[in-house]
Amino acid sequence: MTPPPIVLIGPMASGKSAIGQELAAQLGVTFSDTDRIVTKAHGPIAEIFARYGERFFRHQEAAALQRLLESEEYAGTVISVGGGAVLDTGTSQLLSSSAVVVYLVTDLATVMPRISGKGHRPLLAEDPVTSWVRLFDLRRPVYERLADLTLDTRRGNVRELAARLKALLQERNYLQ
Ligand code: S3P
Repeated sequence: MTPPPIVLIGPMASGKSAIGQELAAQLGVTFSDTDRIVTKAHGPIAEIFARYGERFFRHQEAAALQRLLESEEYAGTVISVGGGAVLDTGTSQLLSSSAVVVYLVTDLATVMPRISGKGHRPLLAEDPVTSWVRLFDLRRPVYERLADLTLDTRRGNVRELAARLKALLQERNYLQ
């Protein structure tokens, strides 16, 4: 049986890309990031939002993830998605049926240094802290519902967190 891909979900700045990349290195598998795929095809996310709107971005994001999850090539690999990807119904169904979903648990204090100041995230462009909290409150039930595993990212560096996640995946028999 082919192992499903491991998909990291969670709020903005929770470390999905950094931990995902490190986990993939520790497992010796490929890492993919839907934000990166969309950016490569259409330019920086802030520009996509400004030029074509959020709906267009969501469509590209969902399509990118669908291509990854439906391709045999990505079996057992690590994928990270943007914080809002789980809002798409098709995406959440596909995640439930075709991936090991890992929810990266975090809190405002942990992400604060990463989100305050000017960043590349259009949804945090104005009043980043209030916007982050509002979106997290709205999305948290979806993250919790979709999670097969949770990783508390509030303590530890990227390498330690990836190692902890690898151990957790082994413990639960998600790795071949
Ligand atoms: C978004 C999260 C971002 C990116 C886009 C929208 C969101 O990714 O996809 O700016 O709606 O939460 P990160 O979660 O990697 O910051």
